[in-house]
Amino acid sequence: MTTEEGPDPRPAQEETGKPDQPPPAPPTRRRPGPVTRRALLLGIGAAGGAGAMYAAMGALGLAPREQKRDFIAPRPGDFSLTGRAAAKVLILGAGVTGLACAYELGKAGYDCTVIEARDRVGGRCLTLRGGDRFTEIGDEQQVVRFGEGGYFNAGPARIAQWMVTMDYCRELGVPVEVFINDNAQAYVYTRGMKAPIRAAAYRADMYGYLSELLAKATNAGALNRRLTRADRQVLLDFLAEFGDLDRRTYDYGGSDRRGYATPPGVQPGKMLGPVPSVSEVLGYDLPRALTKTASQEQAAPMFQMVGGMDGLVRAFAERIGEDRILTRTKVTRIDTLPDRVDVTCEGPDGTVVHTADYCIATLPPHLIARIPGNLGAPVVSALTAAQPTPAGKIAIEYDRRWWELEDKIFGGSTETDLDITRIWYPSYGFFGERGILIGYYTIGSAKDTFTPLPHRERHRRALTQGKKIHGEKYRTGVLSSASVAWTRQPYIEGAWATFTDPGVLATLRRPAGRVYFAGDWLTNLNAWIAGSLESARTVVTDLHRRVLSQ
Ligand code: ALA
Repeated sequence: MTTEEGPDPRPAQEETGKPDQPPPAPPTRRRPGPVTRRALLLGIGAAGGAGAMYAAMGALGLAPREQKRDFIAPRPGDFSLTGRAAAKVLILGAGVTGLACAYELGKAGYDCTVIEARDRVGGRCLTLRGGDRFTEIGDEQQVVRFGEGGYFNAGPARIAQWMVTMDYCRELGVPVEVFINDNAQAYVYTRGMKAPIRAAAYRADMYGYLSELLAKATNAGALNRRLTRADRQVLLDFLAEFGDLDRRTYDYGGSDRRGYATPPGVQPGKMLGPVPSVSEVLGYDLPRALTKTASQEQAAPMFQMVGGMDGLVRAFAERIGEDRILTRTKVTRIDTLPDRVDVTCEGPDGTVVHTADYCIATLPPHLIARIPGNLGAPVVSALTAAQPTPAGKIAIEYDRRWWELEDKIFGGSTETDLDITRIWYPSYGFFGERGILIGYYTIGSAKDTFTPLPHRERHRRALTQGKKIHGEKYRTGVLSSASVAWTRQPYIEGAWATFTDPGVLATLRRPAGRVYFAGDWLTNLNAWIAGSLESARTVVTDLHRRVLSQ
C-alpha cells in the first residue's frame, strides 16, 4: 500500500521483528492534515526504536539514491535515539569484502580495525604496475617492469552493468570505462585448424549451418508434430535471416558476415572465402567462443575501472582511513567469548591480542579453518569443506600494439583450445605506444599447466602457444611480463572457493558466537567483486541489527 507520502511504513516494523506498537499520539492540530515524513519517522522512532525508524527511512525512500533498495547503510542517527553506541569490530582481511564492511559500518561510526596479512589492501583485487614486487609460494620474486600507465588486473577484470559494483564505483567516484568482453574481429584457434580464423567467421558459419540443418529438417517434416504449419513458416523465415541462407533452397553458402577478403570501399567488398564444410565447422568444437556473452554475468557491454580494478579498494581504504588498516599482520588465533572477541595477531609489533565486540572474518574459508581458536567443530568442518579453484593469468608487455596495428583487434579475446585458453587484448590505451595483453587466463585445474611452473617458464610457454595464433611477432618486442597463479598467492591460496554442499554454506551464513563470515563464496556471485560486496552488505545489516537490538 502507498500513501501520498510514500510507501506504507508497516513493513518497517515487520523488518525489525518487533510487535506492532500503539500508534503515536495524534498531533495537536485543529484540523487533521497530512502526516509529514519527519513526524512519521519521529513517531516510529519513539514507538519502535531506532531500528524501526532506520528501516522506515528506507521504506520511505530516504536512503541515498545511489543505494540499492534492499540495502540501507547504517547511519549515526540509528544510535542517537537509543543511547546505544556503535560497537568495536575487527575485520579480518582487507580484500573487497573486508573493506566494504569497514566502509559501511564506518558510516554509522563503528570503530573498525581491518587486519591484513599481505603488505597491501585488495586481496584478489590485485592490480600490478611497474615497480611492484611479489613472490608466489615456492617461486622467486617477480619484479613488475611495465611502463608508465600500464597495468595488469591479475584478479577481477570485468564488471557486468547490473552488478552492485557499479553502484559502489558511482558512490565513491571511481570512474569506469567499457571492457570489451567480446570482439568478432578477434580470432578463434583450435588445434585442428590450419590457421586461426576470425570469431566473426566462426559465428557466421556456425549460425549458417545450424540454420540450414534446422530449416531442412523442418522442410523434411521432422517438426510437423511439434509445430503448426504457421509456426514452421515463421521458423523458416527466422532461420533464413539468422543464418543468412539462400531464401529459396535454405542452403548456407557463406556470408559477408564472415568478414572480407577485400573490405568494401569505393568498390564492393569481397567476401572472405573459401567457406569451410559443415563438418569442418563442427570440428572446431569451441562453443565458448560463441557463447561468452550469453550469460548475464558476461553480457556485453561490460565495464572496468579506469586505471585498474584496484580503484575501488583504494577508494575504500581512503574513506576508512589508513590508520585503521593493519597490513603485514597475520591472524594466529580467534576466540569468541560471551562478551567480546579476542583476535591474536603477529605483526610488525610482534604478537598483539586485539579485542572487540564483534569480528567479521573475510579470509578465504579454507584459511580461516586453519586458524586455531574456539569457533567450534561444526564451523571448522564447514570451513574445511571449501574447495579452492585454481586460476591464473600472465600479462605481457610489448613495445608496440601489433594486435591493433596489424590485426585490427581493439579489445576482446581470442579463444583457443590451447592451454593458454585465451588471449585478452587490452580495453584501454588504444593508439598508445606500448601495450599489455593477457597471454593466458586459465580457470580450473583440467587445463592448468601454468600454475605449477615458475614464472620464467610460464612466460616461455605462453609465448610459444601465442605464436601459433599470431605468428613470430608474438615473441618479438616483448618488454616484460608478470604472472599470477592464485593457488600460490600467499594468504589467499585460491582464485575462489566453492562448496558442494549448500548445507555447509547455511552454517557459515550464521555467526559463530561473535564472529561473522563474509565473502563472495557465501553468495551466488562467487568469483565476482559484486559477490564480495553483496556479502559485506548482508553481514553489515545483520551485525547492525544485532547491535541495535541489544
Ligand atoms: N568473474 C571472473 C571472470 O570474470 C571469474 O572471469
